[in-house]
Amino acid sequence: MAEQAGDPLFQSHDPIFDRKELLHVGHVPDEDRIVGRDDEIQSVAAEVGAITRGDPPNNVMIYGKTGTGKSLISRHVATRAQTAARDNEIDCGVLYVDCSEANTETRATRQLALSLKDQTGYQENIPLRGVGTMEYYQHIWGILEDFFDAIIVILDEIDKLDNSNILMQLSRAREAQKTDAYIGVIGISNKVKYRETLDERIDSSFGHRELFFHPYDASQLREIMRNREDAFQPEVLEDGTIELCAALAAKKHGDARKAIEILKEAGELARRTGSETVSESHIQQAQEVAEINRIEELTSGATVHAKLALYALASRIITGDRETHKTREIYERYVGICNMVTTDPITENGLYRQLKEQAFLGVIESEKTGGGRSQGSYLLHRLVTDPKHIIKAVRRDDSLEELPTYDQLTETGPATNNRDVDLSSFS
Ligand SMILES: Nc1ncnc2c1ncn2[C@@H]1O[C@H](COP(=O)(O)OP(=O)(O)OP(=O)(O)O)[C@@H](O)[C@H]1O
Ligand SMILES: [Mg+2]
Repeated sequence: MAEQAGDPLFQSHDPIFDRKELLHVGHVPDEDRIVGRDDEIQSVAAEVGAITRGDPPNNVMIYGKTGTGKSLISRHVATRAQTAARDNEIDCGVLYVDCSEANTETRATRQLALSLKDQTGYQENIPLRGVGTMEYYQHIWGILEDFFDAIIVILDEIDKLDNSNILMQLSRAREAQKTDAYIGVIGISNKVKYRETLDERIDSSFGHRELFFHPYDASQLREIMRNREDAFQPEVLEDGTIELCAALAAKKHGDARKAIEILKEAGELARRTGSETVSESHIQQAQEVAEINRIEELTSGATVHAKLALYALASRIITGDRETHKTREIYERYVGICNMVTTDPITENGLYRQLKEQAFLGVIESEKTGGGRSQGSYLLHRLVTDPKHIIKAVRRDDSLEELPTYDQLTETGPATNNRDVDLSSFS
């Protein structure tokens, strides 16, 4: 090994990572590192591809849960279409708008106009403020007129836009003789219900196809991670670590971003503890932390009652012997917990609505069960994740940290008092 130079306080050589940037959250992988989405790439290309032949494209909406490659594949296909169009002497622009930031029509059109200007030699000044949407549209049509035959507009997280007028403007632009350029829109959302929120007028003029990206399975996640193994120093990843990471991530969510984060976190953990290799146990620990973070993120916008409802369900599962519980059972425990944290409980019906919302977020699953005619049917709720993670994630809320910990719950059982925690209200 080469002699170490410089201040010995700082290691000149990272014993675990070689190209850690490959595992960063914002890292956009090169084309040859994109795996497991061939069909999706084909499908998106089939919708927008006409642009490369000088024909009108279809608009498309891509739906799918977080980390399923929607943003990545959209950008990838759009860029390839741009290159292919150029080969046919068609000037095709690609525009990307993150509507979670540019969440109003004015902001989105301003961003479109500015990035079109950036891509061209457009001379006119585009004001940053003090003008309205109409003026930005004028610039957009002007730039298209002068510089482009076609553009692909990616509207990512489109459900965050406060109104969807932009969809109508873009899809009617040719018809309304604003421009001759063909415009293909790729809208992206993880809310499948987005379409229902669209104004009928907009929905019909946008006339789009819909694609669904499914969560990755274990073998796809394995491939995605294998393709970035060179983030680590040679021989550092022990056999079976990537397989384990893929299996855990597939079981929980099938989210590629999270799988990569776990791999990175496992590496950090190995380094912190002075280990020379990354082992399965590092993956296990990293996955626990990641899962708690994920639940915390999912529930971050939820009300305190939703969190208490989740806590109630988790604690029932821990202290009881069943995985599924009726709304009524969760409600009873919830009321007890409200007493503990001196919060006024909401009604059972209110709690039921909170549970439904959690089901939508993917934290719990609810299933209707027929109890026979006399009993009527009722809902059974189960957690999609380990109840331990829910307890930890909920307790991270400052106002709820006095709730019993997981260990306290497992030690004390359902209806006992111990000297640290009063669980009597849980009975
Ligand atoms: N098929 C793939 N091959 C390689 N890496 C991938 C693949 N799919 C996703 N990734 C990795 O996961 C990250 C997340 O993917 P992407 O941003 O496309 O997800 P998304 O579906 O847009 O999620 P969200 O709904 O949260 O925005 C990417 O930046 C990339 O690092
Ligand atoms: Mg995305």
